[in-house]
Amino acid sequence: MGEVVAVLGGGQLGRMLGLAGVPLGLSFRFLDPSPEAPAQALGPLVVGALGDEAALRDVARGATAVTYEWEGVPAEGARALEQLGYAVRPGPNALEVAQDRLGEKETFRRLGIPVPAFAAVDTRDELARALDDIGTPAVLKTRRGGYDGKGQVMLHRASAVEAAWAELGAPAVLEQMVRFDRELSVLAVRSLAGETRCYPLVENRHAAERGTGGILRASRAPAPAVTPALQAAGEAIAGRLLDDLGYVGVLAIELFQVGDELLANEFAPRVHNSGHWTIEGAETSQFENHLRAMLGRPLGSTNARGHSVMLNCIGAMPDIDRVLAVPGAHLHDYGKTPREGRKLGHVTVTAATAEELDDRVARLEFLVDA
Ligand SMILES: Nc1ncnc2c1ncn2[C@@H]1O[C@H](COP(=O)(O)OP(=O)(O)O)[C@@H](O)[C@H]1O
Ligand SMILES: [Mg+2]
Repeated sequence: MGEVVAVLGGGQLGRMLGLAGVPLGLSFRFLDPSPEAPAQALGPLVVGALGDEAALRDVARGATAVTYEWEGVPAEGARALEQLGYAVRPGPNALEVAQDRLGEKETFRRLGIPVPAFAAVDTRDELARALDDIGTPAVLKTRRGGYDGKGQVMLHRASAVEAAWAELGAPAVLEQMVRFDRELSVLAVRSLAGETRCYPLVENRHAAERGTGGILRASRAPAPAVTPALQAAGEAIAGRLLDDLGYVGVLAIELFQVGDELLANEFAPRVHNSGHWTIEGAETSQFENHLRAMLGRPLGSTNARGHSVMLNCIGAMPDIDRVLAVPGAHLHDYGKTPREGRKLGHVTVTAATAEELDDRVARLEFLVDA
């Protein structure tokens, strides 16, 4: 039996980490509150709360290293494992920063990384004052626990304070609504020795559920029309953040592009949905590079192979045969029970040229409910 990796969280990200690790000779153990967690196809599942010390000890026993695939993992639990002598990578400090939108934005700002105008909101009066400063449209976001566009309210005019306060309350962050040209993300991996490599910038499309942005629908990589200067700007942002956190593993930063400028929106201290294209579309997938980094092995190339688009399957899986009939299409079914708004799988389609890719995507868009 080779090295064992313990993963806190047993969702699709854990499952894909497992799929990438098996060829490297790794074995996996997962901790998840759900007995139906999709990662159990790749290794034994400990069913328990992610903050439960006994369950944490159970999943980590004998592991070479511990990682997490969900940023909601309680940082204290991850710290407790560290205190027991386990290598927790990335470190729990990254969880702490990412779990609080305010701390996250303050970190970006401290590092000289541009962010949309924002203000902390703890009371109704603070919300009114922040809206005066920032102006409309603005978006009020809960500081903790928001995801996929949940925990956000748009404010189109000053009179919306009452309703927004009633719906979301505090603690929250009010943020200027940015009229961005597009959304991008930068995925980076930092090794145990401190070397950082970035993947090509990715262009992301999020669909609006209720006025605000929401769940990720599609990613294209490399993002079209990225100048070397823009790529360098994305890499500089990633480099500063990962060095500051002393980070080990893969991290994703969501960005708004406005003209030639990049504003940081948020980061995820883990492998990320906007990096799924790397499985087929890059020399080394984000999952493999995350494992290589956390185990102290050399990083793999982050270069793209051709052009890729990833489409999320949300709420329903497409017809398998029709998807597989499209050249260059790769289906990933996470084995989850269908539910409205739930990410059940994704399709990545690759092509040698951008034109060929467009044709293939057009065929898939009819099939995939992205
Ligand atoms: N300040 C903003 N300006 C413009 N659009 C925004 C802003 N904040 C969020 N959005 C839209 O909402 C989406 C989800 O918001 P985000 O802050 O990334 O929260 P989540 O944690 O739910 O992903 C973003 O990808 C974007 O499309
Ligand atoms: Mg986001």
